[in-house]
Amino acid sequence: MKAWQLTAFGRENLKLNDIPQPTPGPGEALVRISAVSLNYRDKLIYDGNYNPHLEFPITQVADAVGEVVAVGPNTTRVKPGDRVVTSYCTRWIDGEPSAKETLYSLGNIIPGALAEYLVLTENALAVAPAYLTDEEAAALPCAGLTAWYSLVEKGDVKSGDTVLVQGTGGVSLFGLQIAAALGATVIATSSSDDKLARAKSLGATHTINYKKTPDWENEALALTNKRGVDHILEVVGGSNLARSIKAIRPEGQISIIGIIDGFDATIPLFGVIQKHAVIRGISVGPLRALERMLAKFDELKLRPVIDSVHSFNDAPKAFDRLEQGGFGKIVIRVRD
Ligand SMILES: NC(=O)c1ccc[n+]([C@@H]2O[C@H](COP(=O)([O-])OP(=O)(O)OC[C@H]3O[C@@H](n4cnc5c(N)ncnc54)[C@H](OP(=O)(O)O)[C@@H]3O)[C@@H](O)[C@H]2O)c1
Repeated sequence: MKAWQLTAFGRENLKLNDIPQPTPGPGEALVRISAVSLNYRDKLIYDGNYNPHLEFPITQVADAVGEVVAVGPNTTRVKPGDRVVTSYCTRWIDGEPSAKETLYSLGNIIPGALAEYLVLTENALAVAPAYLTDEEAAALPCAGLTAWYSLVEKGDVKSGDTVLVQGTGGVSLFGLQIAAALGATVIATSSSDDKLARAKSLGATHTINYKKTPDWENEALALTNKRGVDHILEVVGGSNLARSIKAIRPEGQISIIGIIDGFDATIPLFGVIQKHAVIRGISVGPLRALERMLAKFDELKLRPVIDSVHSFNDAPKAFDRLEQGGFGKIVIRVRD
């Protein structure tokens, strides 16, 4: 079968290889991949910033949708014909995470989904809602669950809360859509006025251009009558976290998600102490949370925002788009 594999660090080392089709073992399923979506994390992987000990060659990409075409012995959760999405933390089913959940994500130490077929444990597969297209279903797992787990399962977001999302990437737009659908007021930031206009059409109430207003935290405080926002999805990291601490309300929650601006941060501890701020690390979420999220998406008929769809043979163009920063999810159609 064909698979896009990383043969060394560096995006130029993503190669289309012919490799043997895998066979499902006990508790596993063989999935014929229909579509995958990219995450910033895929860039971290090929840049060598996610796992410096990556072993090559390794098939890339974590998020996918496909059809179960065969199952191994004792596989009971899925059956041939099911349309399924992948769960990012393949060993995390429920409860509290171990410290190593993200290690076992697809395309890291187990093969990824940018291939014609994938064998995966049945505990890392969830049935995709029927109302979603393949492109939309592929967009959901990592970014959608990260926003959902942060806001709903760990943040208890409710109608009337104010949620701030940073930039218009995958996690942030899912955060915007989920928060708005649950009745929260959303403040969206972006480097682009055009993207902010699109964020408004998705349900953002307020927008801030962080390039024109680098001290966006003051604007967020003004928009909340100086009280501060209830939830912040911190996808930027680095020095941005100190701004989030200024913008959060007393006892509000900052979900530490991304490291776009840096892996380390110096933060004003006195601000955290005075506000009793909750600073919570997030590593995507477990299978059960993915299933709950898919059920809620089905109920609300929420549709992921797709930036662009690329063909399997043109996969490098999708990674070019990832480097540019799209609006929403970048999808690769694996099978027509
Ligand atoms: N911890 C977890 O479980 C988890 C899960 C998923 C993702 N992540 C991390 O979260 C981050 C975002 O991932 P993603 O896949 O959503 O990324 P993405 O789709 O590639 O989006 C990146 C977006 O970030 C925005 N951005 C860049 N610099 C910014 C800044 N200084 N302030 C505000 N926004 C800025 C840009 O939006 P504009 O173009 O609108 O400016 C850009 O389009 C990454 O660091 C990723 O590794 C972590």
